[in-house]
Amino acid sequence: MKQLFKILQNDFRGVFLAVILGTLTVVSSVGLFATSAYLISKAALKPLAYTLTLTIVGVRFFGLSRAVFRYLERYFSHKTTFNFLAEIRKFFYEEVEPKSPAIFQKARSTDLLSRMVADVESLQNFFLRAVYPYLVILWVLILVGIFLWRFSFWFSFLLFSGFIIAALFLPVFLGKKSLEFTKKYRTKRAFLANGLGELILGYIDLKTTNSLEEKVSGLQKLSQKLIALRKMAANLTALSDSSVLFLSHFSGFLALILAVYLSSQGKLSGVLIALVVLVVQTSFEAVFPAAAARQYWEESKESARRIFSILNEPPQVIEGAGRTNLPGEFSLEFKKVTLIYPGNVEPSLKDVSFFLKEGQKIALVGPSGSGKSSILKLLLRFYDYEGEIFLGGEELKTFSPEAVRTLFGVVSQESFIFNTTLEENLRIAKPEALEEELLAVLEKVKLSHLKLSFEVGERGERLSGGERQRLLIARLLLKNAPIWLLDEPTTGLDSITEKEVLDNIWEVAGDKTLVYITHRLRGLEKMDEILVMDRGEIKEKLNFVEFKKRYLNHDGG
Ligand SMILES: Nc1ncnc2c1ncn2[C@@H]1O[C@H](COP(=O)(O)OP(=O)(O)O)[C@@H](O)[C@H]1O
Ligand SMILES: [Mg+2]
Repeated sequence: MKQLFKILQNDFRGVFLAVILGTLTVVSSVGLFATSAYLISKAALKPLAYTLTLTIVGVRFFGLSRAVFRYLERYFSHKTTFNFLAEIRKFFYEEVEPKSPAIFQKARSTDLLSRMVADVESLQNFFLRAVYPYLVILWVLILVGIFLWRFSFWFSFLLFSGFIIAALFLPVFLGKKSLEFTKKYRTKRAFLANGLGELILGYIDLKTTNSLEEKVSGLQKLSQKLIALRKMAANLTALSDSSVLFLSHFSGFLALILAVYLSSQGKLSGVLIALVVLVVQTSFEAVFPAAAARQYWEESKESARRIFSILNEPPQVIEGAGRTNLPGEFSLEFKKVTLIYPGNVEPSLKDVSFFLKEGQKIALVGPSGSGKSSILKLLLRFYDYEGEIFLGGEELKTFSPEAVRTLFGVVSQESFIFNTTLEENLRIAKPEALEEELLAVLEKVKLSHLKLSFEVGERGERLSGGERQRLLIARLLLKNAPIWLLDEPTTGLDSITEKEVLDNIWEVAGDKTLVYITHRLRGLEKMDEILVMDRGEIKEKLNFVEFKKRYLNHDGG
């Protein structure tokens, strides 16, 4: 909540303006009724026409100004709300962006995203429906209170007490109850839905055991309870509205008694009685929105709690920190590297050590879940680790994560093909590439039969499996990073196409340093070394000849 107020403060001017205008709207209403009351009372005394003229002007003025202020108030309070929402979005984005790799790795789902968006969205009620009404109430109370004080302290006191009850006591008392109802209602409704499902699925069993009646009547009772709860909630809303209305009239009534008394004592002129009564009564216009304010307040609190619990989670890796001058040499070394994913107990990598000279090519093989992709995630600095990783002889953590990522060309199962032209899909890797360059690359990956303007379809559905992978390799070539990380780059391909694609990769990879991850045992002839992984550990380091002896039968299959 503190953080929300801080963000709200950024648009202090907007808040200020909205509150002033909101207050003026109510004050105009009060003024309208006050001058009307005064006019009617005064007219009864048959005064000179010109004294009435002024009052008539007053009535006209307040009548008009109320409409104008109402319009401006709506305009500025909503403008402030949208500004606030924009600020929240910006703030949220800036906070979430450096943590996004970790957040999205953890909950790789659009579900998380849509929940966060909904939470941010619901915060628009925070200012407009929870905070703003109270600021207006406060100002109306102050202004009208001072005005009434001129006639008698007791009028101000009356207004003050009425406001306290209507704006603080009622919403707190009734809001708590209605929150309770909402919660109860939700759980009961879930029970009912569940019960009905069971009734249908278990119909035969219920019928044959003669317990159908019992089940049905149980559900009927539950349904009755739900209806009762709904009724109570509706009654509560009605009660809250009518309570404020009652308070408004009751305060007016008390003001009347007080005014008559004061007038009889000669302390208040008789023409002012109606004015004072109506001023007290109409001021309550400011208080009506307070009934709902508490609900919105609670909802905003919940949303804010969820949002900030994501944001306040310490980032695994701090983006932006670290040096950007990258090493001139691209060897890779893991020294006793251990990785425990946040929230896990068991390590996913245990004391992993290996060395890869610049230009060397190694394969990481092992069953699924053995930790192969985790090695790649560490290199890309999505997670922190224990132990040491050296890039060109220097600790990986000392570099800025963004800078490090420029050194890697990656193809993984998650590599994405966009629903646009082949050209656009290539330019992601190198926006400034010349057309000749794109064509040359297509030639190299054997895609030159396709035009650059070819629309590839959603996720590249208009390409064959092999063509899709070739497109990804073409991106690698365009990016021209010194180290290639290939995580199962041939997933989903039949073995003939797989061989063609792999051969193509080895052909174009040249002297790149390369880490090839696969759970298959074929196609490893070109590797300088093969690391066999199991359950987070490197079991063996073999060259291809040894590997073939141990793991492949004679025909290489
Ligand atoms: N983001 C994550 N959070 C928690 N555990 C993870 C995460 N990613 C992977 N793991 C766990 O780490 C282990 C290794 O996963 P991974 O490196 O993807 O294996 P592989 O690529 O060899 O199939 C698995 O047990 C997996 O459940
Ligand atoms: Mg994997």
